[in-house]
This record gives sequence, structure tokens and C-alpha cells, in this order.
Amino acid sequence: MDEELKFKIRSLNKTFGNNHVLKGIDLDVVKGSSLIILGGSGSGKSVLIKLMVGLLTADSGSILYEGNESIGMPYKDRLKMLENCGYLFQAGALFDSLTVQQNITFFAEKLHSLTKKDIRELASKKLQSVGLSNKILDLYPSELSGGMQKRVSLARAVCVDPKVIFFDEPTTGLDPIMSNVINDLIVKVRDELGATTVTITHDMQSARKIGKEVAFLFEGRIVWSGKMSEIDSTDNDNLRQFITGEIAKSNLVEA
Ligand SMILES: Nc1ncnc2c1ncn2[C@@H]1O[C@H](COP(=O)(O)OP(=O)(O)OP(=O)(O)O)[C@@H](O)[C@H]1O
Ligand SMILES: [Mg+2]
Repeated sequence: MDEELKFKIRSLNKTFGNNHVLKGIDLDVVKGSSLIILGGSGSGKSVLIKLMVGLLTADSGSILYEGNESIGMPYKDRLKMLENCGYLFQAGALFDSLTVQQNITFFAEKLHSLTKKDIRELASKKLQSVGLSNKILDLYPSELSGGMQKRVSLARAVCVDPKVIFFDEPTTGLDPIMSNVINDLIVKVRDELGATTVTITHDMQSARKIGKEVAFLFEGRIVWSGKMSEIDSTDNDNLRQFITGEIAKSNLVEA
């Protein structure tokens, strides 16, 4: 049923110059789902979620957000939509010249009128929710470890209590222990907020921990989608090769 869909994407196309990245994406994001988008490096995963939140504009196709067309949506309506979306950027992307507090509340302050006290309290509460002390509120990103920066990025992504959260490679560059901490935090904040999540990851361990549903992007299309529990028995050769790290025989050049 369409009212159960947060996003309904049809025939979505995106080209950069002569690089045809997305060639007719069809994808449903069901309310309450924890969707993992899998796909090789450069296959267009980040481009897809940037299109979903309107950071990039599609060439053609349709992206319905809660039943409303978001392609070409007026700015006012887009802001309203973004009030409900959190985004953890690939590589964290904290603002170097802003403090931890300013980073966390950056978007919240744009969307709501908040007093200085509200801002401090909000940043403090969100830091706690990702297991960090409010002693770091006035530090700058360069004074934090990579793992702490990821947690601050996570605190920023959930600052407006979003209904949909996008995570782009949340564990890349972290050691296995910190990756697990971030995975657990993602599950915790998702459950606390009752949010729908869309996560891009190369890390299958992380995917299995966070995700319940999977969509596999290959050569510009979603070529397989289903339950996480079904991926190991998939009959899609490309997906199987992706999850096992096998190299397709057809891709090997004979010596
Ligand atoms: N703003 C842009 N301008 C031009 N080309 C772009 C832009 N953003 C992405 N691309 C191109 O689109 C393709 C897909 O990029 P994208 O970042 O979505 O890949 P990805 O699947 O997220 O890869 P990775 O797993 O390495 O992050 C690449 O060929 C990339 O060079
Ligand atoms: Mg990417």
C-alpha cells in the first residue's frame, strides 16, 4: 500500500556529462524499514540518496516522498520535507571551523527558532545519546578522534528527531571495535526515534547488524531487492559475487 511508503522511486535517471550513473531506478522504501543499499564503488549509491534528499537534481523520473512528488518541489515544501530527514554524510563532513555544539545544532537552528539555552541543552542531549560527554561541546572537530567525529556526525544527523535517516558509509575508516559501537548506536537511535533508515555500506557485517531489507545497485539499476535473510541464498550472480567478494570469471582476463 502506497501510504506505507516513505519513498517511492520510479524510472529515476541521473547523468553527469556522458557518465550515465542511474539508468532507471525503481525503489520503494517502506515506512519503518531499515534498508541497506549495496553496490560497488562508483555505482551511484551516494548519488541516489543525494537525489532522495534533494541535494542533487534528477534528469528524469519520479521520487515520491510520503506520496508527494519531490522532484521540482518548491523550496518551502522541500524544507518541510528536510525537517523529517537526517543525513550522515560519507566521511562525516563536520564543519572544521565550528565547534561540536555548533555542528550538532547547525540544521536544527536553521529549521527552528531556538534560544541559546535550548541550543546548548539540545546539543548536550544529543551528545549523550551517542555516548559522548558534554565536556566536548566547545571543542573543534580537529581536536577529536575519528570515532568521536563519527559520533558527533551521528548526533547531528539525529538532532531534529528525523523520521527518515540516511547513513552514507557510517563505519568507513573505523576500526572493528569502533565500527561496532557505531552500528549499535545506529540501531539505538533508530529504535528510539522509531525512524526509517536508509544505509549505504560496503561492510557486510555492519549491513547485517543494521539492516533488515536490501537493495542491490548494479549498472545503474536496482537489480535485486529483498530481505536481508534472503541474500545468502540469492540467485543473482552479481549480488552473490558482491557479498562473497568473489571475482566474476567473466571479469578475469586470460593470461
Ligand atoms: N557532483 C558530481 N559531479 C560529477 N560526477 C559525479 C558527481 N557525484 C558523483 N559523480 C559520479 O557519479 C558516479 C557515482 O558516484 P557515487 O558517489 O554515487 O558512487 P558510490 O556508489 O557512492 O561509490 P563509493 O562506494 O565509492 O562511495 C561516479 O562515477 C562519480 O564520479
Ligand atoms: Mg558513496
